[in-house]
Amino acid sequence: MARVFVTGSSTGLGLMAGELLVEQSHRVVLHARNPTRAEEARRALPEAAVVVIGDLSSIAGARSVAEQASKLGRFDAIIHNAGVGYREAQPTKTENGLPHVFAVNVLAPYVLTALIERPDRLVYLSSGMHRGANPRLDDLTWTKRAWNPAEAYAESKFLDVLIAFAVARRWPNVLSNALEPGWVATRMGGASAPDDLNQAHRTQVWLAVSDDPEARVTGKYFRYLRQRAPDPQTGSAELQNRLIAECQRLSGVALPN
Ligand SMILES: NC(=O)c1ccc[n+]([C@@H]2O[C@H](COP(=O)([O-])OP(=O)(O)OC[C@H]3O[C@@H](n4cnc5c(N)ncnc54)[C@H](OP(=O)(O)O)[C@@H]3O)[C@@H](O)[C@H]2O)c1
Repeated sequence: MARVFVTGSSTGLGLMAGELLVEQSHRVVLHARNPTRAEEARRALPEAAVVVIGDLSSIAGARSVAEQASKLGRFDAIIHNAGVGYREAQPTKTENGLPHVFAVNVLAPYVLTALIERPDRLVYLSSGMHRGANPRLDDLTWTKRAWNPAEAYAESKFLDVLIAFAVARRWPNVLSNALEPGWVATRMGGASAPDDLNQAHRTQVWLAVSDDPEARVTGKYFRYLRQRAPDPQTGSAELQNRLIAECQRLSGVALPN
């Protein structure tokens, strides 16, 4: 039995991953944005051990989530699932003055990774949209270019792969991987999403807990339980290091060596 923390698990793929983990007799800690969503998560999955509460759009919120999770003891695996999509027509700013998509999808998983005691395995939700994103590491806050919601989302999912791979390089004792779940009909994916929802939560659960040798690797990218080639630029140690340095600068939180 593994202890697994799943962020953004009040609905969608995070909740589905929690349900599958419980089905497999693992101990699951859920996470929800606020008390109302936490109550909904508790009702949806009463077998979950605890629901950690906190809004990941602010650095203070992410720090609070990390603090609550840390109090629960060390996890075997953490699935960084919480995310927002590609439909923010305006570049919504958070209380820290950062674009909302970047804050939730990139800075929050970075802060949680840095502040929660390192587990055996880390899993980051990316997207097929990360391919060809060409991220602007010199403008993660979108002050030098015109806002484009699809590009901002694609860039954030590229940066999630960079985080996974940077951590894999820095922490050799942790298995750190990224994956794409397919385009599926969650709230984010929309009703007409073409891929199989029933497959979309399985890879993250497998990477978090399976003893299959194929799942016990690090610094890899997956889709449907198989390794897939990510965008080749994600292998750049220089890009990975620049992102970690930028996340440290913007959040004030250092990634331990
Ligand atoms: N669905 C797809 O087709 C697809 C494709 C590729 C990748 N992905 C990735 O898969 C992951 C899960 O997506 P999904 O489709 O399950 O999306 P979803 O149904 O919209 O669920 C997103 C989850 O993240 C939580 N969340 C969002 N903003 C938050 C915040 N500020 N603080 C705390 N929690 C927050 C949501 O909580 P609330 O309900 O309270 O907002 C919800 O639990 C995301 O990382 C996404 O990028 C999805």
